[in-house]
Amino acid sequence: MSRQFNRTLITSALPYANGPVHIGHLAGVYVPADIYVRYLRLKGEEVLFIGGSDEHGIPITIKARKEGVTPQDIVDRYHGLIKKSFAKFGISFDVYSRTTSQIHRQTAADFFRVLYDKGQFIDQESKQYYDEEAGQFLADRYIVGTCPICGNDRAYGDQCEQCGTSLSPTELINPKSALSGSVPVMRKTKHWYLPLDKHEAWLRQWILEDHKEWRSNVYGQCKSWLDMGLQPRAVSRDLDWGVPVPLPNAEGKVLYVWFDAPIGYISNTKELCEKQPDKYGDWQKWWKDEDTRLVHFIGKDNIVFHCIVFPAMLKADGSYILPDNVPANEFLNLEGDKISTSRNWAVWLHEYLQDFPDKQDVLRYVLTANAPETKDNDFTWRDFQARNNNELVAIYGNFVNRTLVLTQKYFDGNVPEHKELTDYDKEVFAEIENSKLKIENLLDNFKFRDALRETMNLARVGNKYLADTEPWKLAKTDMARVGTILNVSLQLCANLAIAFEPFLPFSSAKLRNMLNI
Ligand code: 2FM
Ligand code: ZN
Repeated sequence: MSRQFNRTLITSALPYANGPVHIGHLAGVYVPADIYVRYLRLKGEEVLFIGGSDEHGIPITIKARKEGVTPQDIVDRYHGLIKKSFAKFGISFDVYSRTTSQIHRQTAADFFRVLYDKGQFIDQESKQYYDEEAGQFLADRYIVGTCPICGNDRAYGDQCEQCGTSLSPTELINPKSALSGSVPVMRKTKHWYLPLDKHEAWLRQWILEDHKEWRSNVYGQCKSWLDMGLQPRAVSRDLDWGVPVPLPNAEGKVLYVWFDAPIGYISNTKELCEKQPDKYGDWQKWWKDEDTRLVHFIGKDNIVFHCIVFPAMLKADGSYILPDNVPANEFLNLEGDKISTSRNWAVWLHEYLQDFPDKQDVLRYVLTANAPETKDNDFTWRDFQARNNNELVAIYGNFVNRTLVLTQKYFDGNVPEHKELTDYDKEVFAEIENSKLKIENLLDNFKFRDALRETMNLARVGNKYLADTEPWKLAKTDMARVGTILNVSLQLCANLAIAFEPFLPFSSAKLRNMLNI
């Protein structure tokens, strides 16, 4: 359903602070989110862009254990590194905070408490795997075993990464503790559950009927979850790292990371608005006003949490808006192989920046031109080189360079006035208008690859215009015509600086500077 909104709140998935970020993160979530945000800002819309680190959860505690340090040490190290990498790539968050902040702990605990008081949870005792050697319950990734679907013998208690199936620990064949390697026993424990089954009816209507415009990968995944039937989901865990369950007699229980992480979007909004109320207003305007449009940028592994679980949490509270769209991307592979942190198969952003300290736009360009919007895609260095040389340099760079060099040469760097316009000149102006409409329409529909291609096509128009009109030849006979051609070309350059801004913000700043606009 599309309707008019007064402002847009954009969130981007909070990456786990258990390692640096790589090109898969950029391509899947942060570059598209940033393009969209920059586009809305260019149009003068009121927009807020929320980011932050996800600092709870077992990926963090496992890493800490491996290194013999505390989880806090791990998140302190990687939060800083991740934040800096994003800033260097021009990801223009209004706030990039973290889920270990005090304001987040309070916000997440309060959120739980409201739902608890409204009777929105059920509590249930169940038997769960327990590691007697480590003296700990084994939630999610703390338990490994064989996947009942594909036979992968390194499947986790919450998911098999080989076939992508969501699992529960008791489905694993030959379960073992990831902590001690021992065979776990069953022990009774109590947890709070969000009864998703009770939310199924409105979720079906809201997604399958009211949001048919969502990307087909997102819509399809939601439909298959809904068709399988939703089950109550535990929102707490027996762990010592996380937001403590805010109830008496809940010692040793923390909120499940997937309960607290999306609340991080709210906490980070609060943090920003409380720091700069004059600029951003009250946080509730961003989360509780029907005139705000909420959009979540995520990767495909996060779809169920953002389209089903988090909306159910928001609805259970009753005072929040729901996402209007969730443009999730598929995955990016690297040279034909799955990106993997454990196998160190990735292009890490902080390492890229060491090798190419001022080439952020090149990577942003390649990752957008080849974005995994509708299917998994592959990043190769050969393609990186080709797109840099044949597109950025040979088309965009070449057109701008020729225009500016000729303007310098014939008009001392001043913009010449145009005389009478030929049909060809007028066609170029029409092309600018036409491209603007096409690019905006594509961006409005989250088609970033196509929007970028359209923008590059406009630079192609400029190149062809110069090649066809050959002002360097006319300079001997008709300086007035040369002035007109360069005037048209300079106007096109100025428009390209705007059109490329969401995609290539560093280059656009440079070009605006060169043009003195
Ligand atoms: O998949 C991940 O990396 C999660 N840390 C994403 C969380 S998104 C949101 F809920 F915070
Ligand atoms: Zn599997």
